Amino acid sequence: MGELKEFDVKAEGGNPACGDVVRLWIKLDSNKKKISDIKFKAFGCGACIASASAMSEMTEGKTVGYALKLTREDISKYLDGLPEQKKKCSNFSTEVLQKALKDAV
Ligand code: FES
Repeated sequence: MGELKEFDVKAEGGNPACGDVVRLWIKLDSNKKKISDIKFKAFGCGACIASASAMSEMTEGKTVGYALKLTREDISKYLDGLPEQKKKCSNFSTEVLQKALKDAV
């Protein structure tokens, strides 16, 4: 959790239904193939914060290709499941991640 002072891309997105927001800072390796560092700030419910945290843990050190394929189901599985009514809260973490990476590469 936190933000990077040196980064390649920054992105933000939210859940329009509740107004909660996730911000991401991503540093890529020199050939832009791997996520060398990723930090986030989440302003939202517990599921929103847990999903953003899981997403950053799952993608740090991984390839951009892997991160682009990450789904909300992957995040939910990493967290040992989310209650049905909270699944929407994990959706926008992956949307922000994919938006950020598409802008960066
Ligand atoms: Fe807003 Fe969960 S209630 S993201």
